[in-house]
Amino acid sequence: MAKTETPGENAQLKDIISHAKEYGFVYPSSEIYDGLQAVYDYGAYGVELKNNLKRLWWETMTRVQDNIVGIDAAIFMHPTTWKASGHVDSFNDPMIDNKDSKKRYRADVLVEEHAAKLEKEGQAEKGKSLTAALARLLEAEDLDGVRDLITNEGIKCPISGTSNWTDVRQFNLMFSTQVGSVAEDSSTIYLRPETAQGIFVNFLNVQKTARMKVPFGIAQIGKAFRNEIVARQFIFRMREFEQMEMQFFIRPGTEMDWYAYWAETRMKWHLALGTPSAKLKKHDHEKLAHYANAAMDIEFEFPFGFKEVEGIHSRTDFDLKSHQEFSRKKQQYFDPEINQNYIPYVIETSIGADRLFLLTLCNAYTEENSEDKSRTYLKFHPAIAPVKAAILPIVKKDGLPEKGKEIMELLKYDFNVIYEDAASIGKRYARQDLIGTPFCIAVDHQTLEDNTVTIRHRDTTEQERVAISELHGRIAEATSFRRIFEKL
Ligand code: GAP
Repeated sequence: MAKTETPGENAQLKDIISHAKEYGFVYPSSEIYDGLQAVYDYGAYGVELKNNLKRLWWETMTRVQDNIVGIDAAIFMHPTTWKASGHVDSFNDPMIDNKDSKKRYRADVLVEEHAAKLEKEGQAEKGKSLTAALARLLEAEDLDGVRDLITNEGIKCPISGTSNWTDVRQFNLMFSTQVGSVAEDSSTIYLRPETAQGIFVNFLNVQKTARMKVPFGIAQIGKAFRNEIVARQFIFRMREFEQMEMQFFIRPGTEMDWYAYWAETRMKWHLALGTPSAKLKKHDHEKLAHYANAAMDIEFEFPFGFKEVEGIHSRTDFDLKSHQEFSRKKQQYFDPEINQNYIPYVIETSIGADRLFLLTLCNAYTEENSEDKSRTYLKFHPAIAPVKAAILPIVKKDGLPEKGKEIMELLKYDFNVIYEDAASIGKRYARQDLIGTPFCIAVDHQTLEDNTVTIRHRDTTEQERVAISELHGRIAEATSFRRIFEKL
């Protein structure tokens, strides 16, 4: 198995990757065997953060919006699903191998990176015309032309330094496996490359059983799998990842209005969660996927540049129509307001939970270096912070641990709180900063006299004295999703 790659060039990303590993957020998968490329595991604080992000998305969709319901479809689906969706024929990336290093690359990425390098070196026109030539060749599915572009430009393999390339071939990104216990009877099925199809094939089940009227949405969170050729940049591009997708079913002809609505609504959500507007931008697609008549990405400025976090796609009636054709089961909706049957059009919002996690970690990672203070901390929004408060008796004697545990009992059923009484108080504060705990509650001798504690605030390090009876309300107010929902 290949070693897990770490990007060489980006110091900030490297710091974030090692912080994530050292403080229990993300580890390479099966690390004791040297890892499995582009597959990762989430640790004690990582799983809490990821669950909070997923819950926030889920509640935004299914509670704040009053016309969206959820489902949880299986990863395995009837293989014809992927024929109908176009994934068997079109879910390909062009790949090329270097014969000397035996390394495999995405041919389009090699050209794009070369074009970006030219632009950086002051040859903007040449870079742009190369990108345009690539787009034309891909559109025409001229793979020999793409190879010629690579060789004519003298693009070299970064490992071997040679231009000894194979032909460019299409590579389908779906993982397949066999279902059935007897070899002769087994058939090929796929691990879903997107969760969306589980929604489409259940469109009528959900519409009828949840008694939904168009316009309405179906939301789902679940695993998706892609055999990515280029697996880099930590959890940005993984082979096993999680998607949070919502398909919004609408009357044909209204798609551009709903497309604009969802683009704006999703952007507002990212801003409400505290992502600075300067780090977000919209990017309209020029080359549309086989199912879309309009598409855009919400991009975030990662340490390796602006990259897609979420896609908003106007998918027309492509999927439902195609499932109707392949299954020979009508996928129509009767609209009582206009007295008509039709196949609804669909606007999709699709965000990777892991990519949102990486965005959140990059945004939160803060190194503070002033004359009197030097520390690293994770500035998570309190509503998504993995641990909401740490209860820290300043000494491990005189009845302070017992008092601390009483406070744990008061809080632990409603919030993820932790108790720690080992090491100096300063060290314990620093450790909570490193995992992004917004509040540290110090229990001291005064606590025994008047039932007050100090709260230390992570971002300012300021401390204030409050009554124990106020703690629950204070933490509830600061960590409530409501504060985010109210900004939408
Ligand atoms: N149903 C539409 C769809 O799957 P996509 O743009 O291919 O569209 C949607 O994927 C989102 O899924 C992306 O914006 C990204 O956040 C996430 N995603 C896609 N491929 C990924 C990968 N290999 N690793 C991590 N996240 C990925």
